[in-house]
Amino acid sequence: VESVGFVGWRGMVGSVLMERMLEEGDFAHIAKPVFFSTSNAGGKAPQVGVEVPPLGDAYDIETLKTLDAIVSCQGGDYTKAVYPKLREAGWDGYWIDAASSLRMDEDSVIVLDPVNRDVIDRAIAEGGKKFIGGNCTVSLMLMALGGLFKADLVEWVSVQTYQAASGAGARNMRELISQMGAIQDCVADELADPSSAILDIDRKVAEQMRSGDFPTQAFGAPLAGSLLPWIDTQLENGQSREEWKGLAETNKILRTDSEIPVDGNCVRIGAMRSHSQAFNIKLRKDVSLEELERIIGTANDWVEVVPNEREATLEKLTPTYATGSLKIPVGRLRKLNLGPEYLSAFTVGDQLLWGAAEPLRRVLQILLG
Ligand code: HSE
Repeated sequence: VESVGFVGWRGMVGSVLMERMLEEGDFAHIAKPVFFSTSNAGGKAPQVGVEVPPLGDAYDIETLKTLDAIVSCQGGDYTKAVYPKLREAGWDGYWIDAASSLRMDEDSVIVLDPVNRDVIDRAIAEGGKKFIGGNCTVSLMLMALGGLFKADLVEWVSVQTYQAASGAGARNMRELISQMGAIQDCVADELADPSSAILDIDRKVAEQMRSGDFPTQAFGAPLAGSLLPWIDTQLENGQSREEWKGLAETNKILRTDSEIPVDGNCVRIGAMRSHSQAFNIKLRKDVSLEELERIIGTANDWVEVVPNEREATLEKLTPTYATGSLKIPVGRLRKLNLGPEYLSAFTVGDQLLWGAAEPLRRVLQILLG
């Protein structure tokens, strides 16, 4: 792989990808990086420490098909519009994508190399060309619990998520902050007066959140001071699409022989960019907590077992701690009262890093050799 095209590098996931690639000096390994734009072809490409041509047109199939690999963070609509045309034009390069459109195709590999490097290597050896980033929640779960899956200890997983605004998009992050501001603003006078009645404040806040003035265009409902127990579209079986991905993508990433059930409720909360998840895990056998902590904690270089103690938990097992970092804290590890084969766990992770950009930059490095 010598020439690599980048599409959607200016959006939120794309920007995080660029930041990480610059941090790690990835561009030094790419003989010919080319940047594309859907709206500003001919414009100036970003500075990446090596010489790059002006921005190409992201819809120009003739140019795209000269590339060895294309990395897209442009979104699913772009993928649907451009990918089939490229293949029809005879392009045989590597397609690396953050969007979900091609994720479940038979010939796609969902990439998360600390967990499924063997699956990725096998696909490359067999001529695989489609390497797609996983759903953030699924990737973060597998970064956290990968050791248990690898040791074949998981019979099933019940999961409840606490997902950050960034998963819904940049606009949604802004709206969450605007909602917080609108709440503060509507009771600023009362807050400044220590003798004001808390129930009056609460009533005013609830009125403000329910009023037509409250900013809800992006989420469609108040999130700040509340939560939203539905993420993505509605499926006919009663699940949300986000919940459906838990089972489908986990098993595709792991390429399990027999399906491991994963299910639960996916909930949006007012965190900025780190997703949290609580798990009840049915183990295939009774394994000591000590051994489980060792298996989880040594599975990869980023997982960090947090002692199941109050102080450590409040310090390290939070979105505030994980945000902007590749660390995957896992804690609240204890056996549930349900029996010795039932494990409780809680994890947090930055959904823009391991949840989106990091697996893409790593698979590109693998392909670059
Ligand atoms: N669908 C996820 C969310 C983010 O809404 O949080 C993308 O994986």
